[in-house]
Amino acid sequence: MKRRNFIQNTALGSLGVVAGTKAIAGTHEQAKSSSAESQLDKPYKLPLVIATWNVPNATEAAYEVLKNGGSSLDAVEQGCRVEEANAEGQSVGIGGLPDRDGNVTLDACIMNPQGDYGAVVYLQNIKHPISVARKVMEETPHVLMAGSGAEKFAVSQGFPRENLLTEASEKAWKQWLVEAQYKPIINIENHDTIGMLTIDKNGDIAGGCTTSGLAYKMAGRVGDSPIIGSGLFIDNEIGGATATGLGEEVLKTVGSFLIVELMRQGRSPQQACEEAIGRIVSKNKNYKDFQVGYIAVNKKGEVGYYSIHEGFSATCYAEGKNENFPSDFFNKS
Ligand code: GLY
Repeated sequence: MKRRNFIQNTALGSLGVVAGTKAIAGTHEQAKSSSAESQLDKPYKLPLVIATWNVPNATEAAYEVLKNGGSSLDAVEQGCRVEEANAEGQSVGIGGLPDRDGNVTLDACIMNPQGDYGAVVYLQNIKHPISVARKVMEETPHVLMAGSGAEKFAVSQGFPRENLLTEASEKAWKQWLVEAQYKPIINIENHDTIGMLTIDKNGDIAGGCTTSGLAYKMAGRVGDSPIIGSGLFIDNEIGGATATGLGEEVLKTVGSFLIVELMRQGRSPQQACEEAIGRIVSKNKNYKDFQVGYIAVNKKGEVGYYSIHEGFSATCYAEGKNENFPSDFFNKS
């Protein structure tokens, strides 16, 4: 496809997103239609885990670490690993939908309460990019490693090379190749990037974000998830935020950093998420064609979540309860 046509047809990747999200719909439980009472108006008692989408196994794994006195960093790594290892989830880790050349490429980042950050982009053949990101943070003088260098580093740290393209994802990709067509379709996803925020009993906050990125993306494309301030940001004095959805739009507005800075200025996590979505919507007349969702938490244990379209949800595990909450959203038309 010629570059001009590609750009016209994508308005960016509504394309990839659509193809991917269509394929992944149904691979995870739909958000429950809130029997659980949302707790946006009062703080949770710590410890607390909140994650994008309906991922009760991931939040449970993270909460288990916190309950046993583990650190928020260990908790977030363990939680993210659950979805990375879930071969049925086609947007994270093994089983992720590939780029248009058939390669599964993973992006992830992690932040600790001290403000340290580690990330990998365009990582192939390694199932747990969140753990490689942690190794980058803890074992190298760098913060961000890419591609074959990141893969070599992972192998040197003892991570096995594995084929991440499952039969189901290969089949979906081959079906997509028949037309290889990109058309904006209003969001229908119920799962995408996993972003997770954890606070231990002392109030120390960590975060992680892991994804296989847009399905059928151009080879080499990297989204918001591994980029500090976009897919994830933690300031242990204030709170944390993380994103899911069309990474290009999150990157252009540095969404997670924006949310943390808005909380610093006094907004609640919910107000800050709504304002960050408002920033995207106000700058993009095509907002009806793509989804972005944010979750946030502040030092007090208050949480927020908000998206452009219906369908996004957040899972919170706190006070002994692991609950999924459908998110409020901007586009009510
Ligand atoms: N938010 C995931 C991505 O755009 O890659």
